[in-house]
Order: sequence, then structure tokens, then C-alpha cells
Amino acid sequence: MTPPVTFPPGFFDRADDGDDAAFYGPPRLVQHIDDGAIAAVGAFYDEIGVSGDVLDLMSSWVSHLRTRPRHLTVLGMNAAELDANPMADERVVRDLNTDPTLPFADASFDTVVCTVSIDYLTTPVAVCAEVGRVLRPGGAFALTFSNRCFPTKAIRGWLAADDRRRAAIVATYLREAGAFDEPVAERRASTDDPVIAVHARRRAEGLTA
Ligand SMILES: C[S@@+](CC[C@H](N)C(=O)[O-])C[C@H]1O[C@@H](n2cnc3c(N)ncnc32)[C@H](O)[C@@H]1O
Repeated sequence: MTPPVTFPPGFFDRADDGDDAAFYGPPRLVQHIDDGAIAAVGAFYDEIGVSGDVLDLMSSWVSHLRTRPRHLTVLGMNAAELDANPMADERVVRDLNTDPTLPFADASFDTVVCTVSIDYLTTPVAVCAEVGRVLRPGGAFALTFSNRCFPTKAIRGWLAADDRRRAAIVATYLREAGAFDEPVAERRASTDDPVIAVHARRRAEGLTA
């Protein structure tokens, strides 16, 4: 069996290690990437086929989906932002850095998306393993990111990396979670901010990690 990847000391440290609930307390009803990047994210999610029962992890007031899925659950830090999400059917406020578990039954989603947010997780492998648990076999976990972030809240390992290395970091999280087929990472065409997408399908058999 392959030994687990060891991340360098300090990789998951953050400049602001204070309570995320305080940082995300004020609602930010803003776009975190520009229009060209938003279009690229929407096109990617369309291509993956984000449909059925969908979880938008680390969500806010917009989920960047072009088509409304059958049922959209949004999970994030700020209730007012989630309340303002016009596509959401169900809203969950949860700090994944204090508790990386997801309050959902096994195999309850067809697709999970996470947009421009994976860099804020301090225990991302545990969260990705949970995504594997709540996804149905064959379901996709699709993540996108750009080159913008809240630098005090992003982990140091992310801040020290370039786009290519960040894609490798996300792919490593997915592999280490032990629930997915081999991840695919690609740079997507964008007229503005860069968009990097990583996705993997939930393996048909059980967890191996
Ligand atoms: C840059 S915003 C992106 C929001 C949204 N995904 C979008 O594309 O507009 C980062 C989001 O990550 C979420 N987030 C940050 N830290 C989190 C944590 N510890 N647990 C859960 N969600 C978190 C916040 O709610 C925030 O809305």
C-alpha cells in the first residue's frame, strides 16, 4: 500500500488562524472572480454535467451553475450570503475547519462543486474524504480556483505555490482522500482571471484510505 503523502511543516498554517466565523461574519455579496472567469467556471460545470442532487461546498450567494439542478444544497460560513443564493434549496452554515465532517447521509449527492475556496481548508483531505462519502458512485467532485484569495485565510502551502503546483496540491488531496478515480486537472480558457479546474469521479467501490 502507498504510504500517505506528508505535507511539509507549516503547509496548513495561516497568517490569520483566528475564528473563521469572525472573518466570514460580515456578508460579502461580491463576485470573487471577474466575468470571464465566471463564464469559464460555468462552462466547466456544464461540461462535467452538474445535475441531480448537488452540493456547493464553501458556497456564497452565487453557485456559478448555468442550469438549476434538481436540488441544490449550499454549505458555507455566512447565512446571509447563502440566503441570497437564488438557486439554493437547502442552506447549511458550517465551519469545516472546526469540524470537517459533512452533515449529510452517505451517497446523497450526484455532484459536489467547490469554487475558489479549497485554499481555505486546514484539513482538506478529511473534507475530501467526506465528499467521497456523500457522493454516489460515479458522481463528480469538481473544483475550480483562480489566482485570487483572502491571503490571510489561505493556507501557506497554497500561497507559496503557482497555478500548476496548486492543481497538483488539489489532485493530491483527492488521491489521499482514497475515494476517487484518478483526478484530472486542466487550465480552462478564460478571457480574464485564470481558471484551473480539477475533478474526479467517486469510485464505485468503498474507501481505501
Ligand atoms: C472566496 S469565497 C467563494 C464563495 C463562492 N464559492 C463563490 O464562488 O463565490 C470563499 C468561501 O469559502 C467559505 N469558507 C471559508 N472558510 C470556510 C470554512 N472554514 N468552512 C466552510 N466554508 C468556508 C466562505 O463561506 C466563503 O464564502
